Amino acid sequence: MSTVRVLTGITTSGTPHLGNYVGAIRPAIAASLAKHVESFYFLADYHALIKIDDPARIQRSTLEIAATWIAAGLDPKRVTFYRQSDVPEIPELTWFLTCVTGKGLLNRAHAYKASVDKNTQAGLDEDADVNAGLFMYPVLMAADILMFNAHKVPVGRDQIQHIEMARDMASSFNHRYGEQFVLPEAAIEETVATLPGLDGRKMSKSYDNTIPLFAPRDQLKKLIGSIKTDSRAPGEPKDTEGSALFQIYQAFAQPHETAQLREDFAAGISWADAKQRLFDRIDAEIAPMRATYEHLMANPAELEALLLQGAAKARAIATPFTAKLRHAVGLRDLRQQASVKAATEKVALPSFKQYREADGKFYFKLVDAQGKLLLTSTGFASPKDAGQMIKALQDNAQALASAQAQLQLAEGVNAGDVQAALQTLREAKS
Ligand code: TRP
Repeated sequence: MSTVRVLTGITTSGTPHLGNYVGAIRPAIAASLAKHVESFYFLADYHALIKIDDPARIQRSTLEIAATWIAAGLDPKRVTFYRQSDVPEIPELTWFLTCVTGKGLLNRAHAYKASVDKNTQAGLDEDADVNAGLFMYPVLMAADILMFNAHKVPVGRDQIQHIEMARDMASSFNHRYGEQFVLPEAAIEETVATLPGLDGRKMSKSYDNTIPLFAPRDQLKKLIGSIKTDSRAPGEPKDTEGSALFQIYQAFAQPHETAQLREDFAAGISWADAKQRLFDRIDAEIAPMRATYEHLMANPAELEALLLQGAAKARAIATPFTAKLRHAVGLRDLRQQASVKAATEKVALPSFKQYREADGKFYFKLVDAQGKLLLTSTGFASPKDAGQMIKALQDNAQALASAQAQLQLAEGVNAGDVQAALQTLREAKS
């Protein structure tokens, strides 16, 4: 079975929260354990620069996200885990792709269009406050994916268009420069639920309703205490439907535990007790990881070393592939041109080869462009005699018939094959 390459990037623009963990991190780590899968996970820090101009925040987020993935169980020996900005081949590929991408394609990207629409509605210039990084975002993302010829890209629904654009760019490039890239596909995890946040809406940084994955224990407890509930008193039956608390519990619990909580809701468990149960359940899963997380946060040198090793692994692929792409587009060593041409001419033509056998006589043979033997001669007294015969065969189409007695066709070769090879040689010479 051939290996499937799976790749995904995480923008280093925030602090991982429970929603990220349940929706992306946990399933991705589980998937990385599958057989016949080669996984690439990277910290998309170039992407982060599009939205964030606070250097300390970029660095902090990179550290937190790297620590999170390792703490959550990603095995850097099994996968390639790296930081985008440690692979300078990626921005180089971004440029190659930029030059085969229609500007119109980028005009239609959702993220860019949303900014334009917002400006238009506000009566502003449509590109007001839009940086070109946002416009180019899909090209950088395509470079991330195509550099490693990923087959599958696990992403959220909002990213599907970007994967389609990466396919478009790969096709355009392949069309111009030969088959270089695999056409990637989005892999959407249908079964993974989106987690509600503290206020019941989807947990998201933009709603400011998140629970940080590695909040210290007491803070986790406090945040869980602040999950919005209705005002039903202890003893009153509670609805599981629409309960953020229940849904978050479900994302962490085993089915029998969920069934138990459902019964307890019906039996009128107090919100305080339900929150305690949720806290205990989450903390049981998170606590062992939190210890690793805190260790890594306190020892950033360990993460830095890990990421540099990952980058070396990534570049073992990216560097030679980029060299190939540079050649394909025509960014070449100028000395190569002449020698490459000479070499291809040599192999592209049939040729005569002269040699001497143990009997002291002089022979020649004719091989085709691929080096396959077409005919051998009988022995000649001198190299000059052999040379004259070669010249006759090359110069004149009748010579083959009259020289038959001195030639022997190789097995499976007929006179027509030889005549065709000689004709090719004649044409190349003229
Ligand atoms: N754009 C992705 C996001 O915001 C992050 C990302 C960058 C990515 N490059 C990628 C995801 C390549 C998958 C593949 O979620």
